[in-house]
Amino acid sequence: MFNTNRRQFLAGTSALAGLSFLSLAGCSKNNDAIRIGFMLPYTGTYAKLGMAIENGFKLALSELGDSPFGKTIEFFTVDDESNPAKATDNANKIMTRDNVDVVIGTVHSGVAMGMIKVARETGSLVIIPNAGANAATGAMCASNVFRTSFSNWQPTHPLGRIMVEQGHRRSVFVTWKYGAGEEALASFREGFEAAGGEVIKELFVPFPNVEFQAILTEIASLKPDAVACFFAGGGAVKFVKDYAAAGLKSSIPLYGSGFLTEGVLEAQGESAEGITTTLHYADGLQNAKNLAFRKAYRAAYSEEADVYAVQGYDAGLLLIKALQETSGDLSLKAEAISAMEGAEIDSPRGSWIMSRAHNPIQNFYTVRVENGINNVVGTAWEGLEDPASGCDL
Ligand code: BEZ
Repeated sequence: MFNTNRRQFLAGTSALAGLSFLSLAGCSKNNDAIRIGFMLPYTGTYAKLGMAIENGFKLALSELGDSPFGKTIEFFTVDDESNPAKATDNANKIMTRDNVDVVIGTVHSGVAMGMIKVARETGSLVIIPNAGANAATGAMCASNVFRTSFSNWQPTHPLGRIMVEQGHRRSVFVTWKYGAGEEALASFREGFEAAGGEVIKELFVPFPNVEFQAILTEIASLKPDAVACFFAGGGAVKFVKDYAAAGLKSSIPLYGSGFLTEGVLEAQGESAEGITTTLHYADGLQNAKNLAFRKAYRAAYSEEADVYAVQGYDAGLLLIKALQETSGDLSLKAEAISAMEGAEIDSPRGSWIMSRAHNPIQNFYTVRVENGINNVVGTAWEGLEDPASGCDL
């Protein structure tokens, strides 16, 4: 795992296994280098997500081979700890002190909002590989900020309709109380009510708390038709296990945005079987690109890829478009931005294009956990575009 502010140097690569890292502490700017900053969580409940993003990103870059455009690649990292209170300082460190050409960050919506405020001042190029804060590609959109993941509005938009189609009209929604969960809930409510459902109760726990006993007791006494939720990472493991252990799984089916079962199925084990979610990716997607990606990821990291690895990989593919357009010179910002705006990404999730607000227009799948795999059981929404309210790009 990488430490806060650790500086790294990547000499030319033809295979990820051959990557070598040297410390660059104290080095001045080298114009023959492409400087890439990771502002990601490397500790806390989202630590695994941050690492998967970095791994996926590096896998994409390794496809460029040795010395892309005659340059070396320097990596800079900051552990943002999923802590919004430190976001401004951390963004300033990576954008101003380390003076990177592009920032790949971050996971947590609250941290992303602080980071974007700094990016709007510095003009730094940013690719968001996860955080779904609606405003990032809505009211706070900016020409220098792109996202390769989703807006929080997107994954739960189709979920309510699917739950009603499966016979559930009275639902409880459970989430951590912070931007991502609240936006997921708002979007779920919109779709669920439009389909004739009723959210009978909203239940919250503070982020990143995992003490779920009180809300599980309340769910048991409310007796809804089903429960929908937003949790991810370590919190998703604990919630799914506690839900099953409380004896609710067989009587009140559990649904969620797909983060609930992404990258955590092994840890959740039997307790995740049968959970239905909606997401823009699933391990079980059978397209050729996904099969090749998963094989390459497994070979490079001895681990299974997940949605976070895919979003990091796609951030790498997007950056490659900018590097190709500028022959590796990201100081040609207008050209880099124009290449990314016109990008069509041949992704393991299926190909997607960038919206005018710089957010993916992409398919969402209905996913069901079967035999320890996130299996695609249908397309929940084809080509879903975030409304991008307040963005005037
Ligand atoms: C978010 O904070 O935006 C987020 C974190 C983990 C998974 C999905 C969204």
